[in-house]
Amino acid sequence: MRQITTGIAALALGLSGIGAAQADDIRKGQELHSDNCISCHADMMGGDGSGLYTRDNRMVGSHDQLVSQVNMCNTQLGTNWFDDEVAAVVEYLNAEYYNF
Ligand code: HEC
Repeated sequence: MRQITTGIAALALGLSGIGAAQADDIRKGQELHSDNCISCHADMMGGDGSGLYTRDNRMVGSHDQLVSQVNMCNTQLGTNWFDDEVAAVVEYLNAEYYNF
């Protein structure tokens, strides 16, 4: 019985958790991120640079800080992203690495 309940909960989560719109955002964020953000982080960290997000002493400790940091790197880079582009990258990084 417990297994069945867990299964139903997981299904409900799957349906409500990541909707189609959110999946689109994540895909867009991933693209923006690989086009604009990876090269610099990769120079710093080696590999694909994602170690920056997963290291033990990473700087970002909350969803708000993630938004601030993406805005900060965005400003430094001069990409002039719109709010929805910043939000898409935040959503991608959160889904892939941070899980806030
Ligand atoms: C000019 C180089 C450069 C570019 C380009 C760059 N960053 Fe960064 N990023 C940094 C540096 C430097 C840090 C801070 C590393 C440190 O202090 O340990 C950082 C840290 C971060 C962190 C925090 C990692 C942690 O410790 O949790 C995030 C998130 C981040 N960058 C996102 C982005 C995003 C999104 C972009 C694309 C808009 C981007 N960065 C582009 C240099 C860059």
